[in-house]
Amino acid sequence: MPDLLPGSTQRTPEYAVAPLFVDRWSPRAMSGDAIPHTVLMSLFEAARWAPSSFNHQPWRFLYAPRATTHWPTFLDLLIPYNQAWAQHAAVLIVLLAKTTMDRHDEPAPTHALDAGAAWQNLALQGWLHGLVVHGMRGFDAEKAAQVLAVPDAYRVLMMIAVGTPGDPANLPANLRDRDVPSPRKALTEIAWEGPFREPLR
Ligand SMILES: Cc1cc2nc3c(=O)[nH]c(=O)nc-3n(C[C@H](O)[C@H](O)[C@H](O)COP(=O)(O)O)c2cc1C
Repeated sequence: MPDLLPGSTQRTPEYAVAPLFVDRWSPRAMSGDAIPHTVLMSLFEAARWAPSSFNHQPWRFLYAPRATTHWPTFLDLLIPYNQAWAQHAAVLIVLLAKTTMDRHDEPAPTHALDAGAAWQNLALQGWLHGLVVHGMRGFDAEKAAQVLAVPDAYRVLMMIAVGTPGDPANLPANLRDRDVPSPRKALTEIAWEGPFREPLR
C-alpha cells in the first residue's frame, strides 16, 4: 500500500503543533483493499473517547465493509461525485447523533458538536494507521435514515469513507489534481481577543 503524502509537505503551521494535525488530510485515492476488523475497531475506539456535554456520547456509527451485503446500500446513498472515488473504500460509515438526552428525553443541543469531536478522533486515528479517512456530506441523509431504520431521536450527520491508500492516477480526471492537502485560513481570521469583529486579512 502506498504511503500517504503528509500534509506538511504542502502546508506549514503558523505556530508549533503536533505534526499529526497538519499531516492529516483527506485523500480520495484508495486501493479497494480490505482493512482488518481490529483496525476498524480501533478507529471507533478512538471516537469513543471523545469528550461530550454531560458525557452523553451521542455519536453512533453504522458501517458497511466492502464485502458485505450492506455495502451496496451504503454506497447507493452517496451522490455520484462521491461514489466515483468512495467506491474504492474498504468501509463506508454513516455517523448519527442522538438529539435527546438518555434520561428524560430532553433536547441535547450539543449533539452535533459532540459527534464532530468523535469524528475527528476517528479521522486522526485512521491517519495514524496510514489509512485514508474522508468525511462526506454529499449523500442523501433522509434516504439514509429511511433505509438504515434510524429512529427519530437520531440525526444523520455525515458519511465517512475509510480505505487503504491508492494511486491518484486511477482517480477520475476531474479529481486527480484535487487530491492534495488543502490550505487553511490564517489564524487572524479565525481567532481574536475580545468581542466579534470582522477578521483581519
Ligand atoms: C463534514 C464533512 C463533509 C465533507 N463532505 C465532503 C464530500 O461530500 N465530498 C468530498 O469530496 N469531500 C468532503 N469533505 C472533505 C473536505 O472537503 C476536506 O476535509 C476539506 O477540504 C479540508 O481538507 P483536508 O481534510 O484534506 O485537510 C468533507 C469533510 C467534512 C469534515
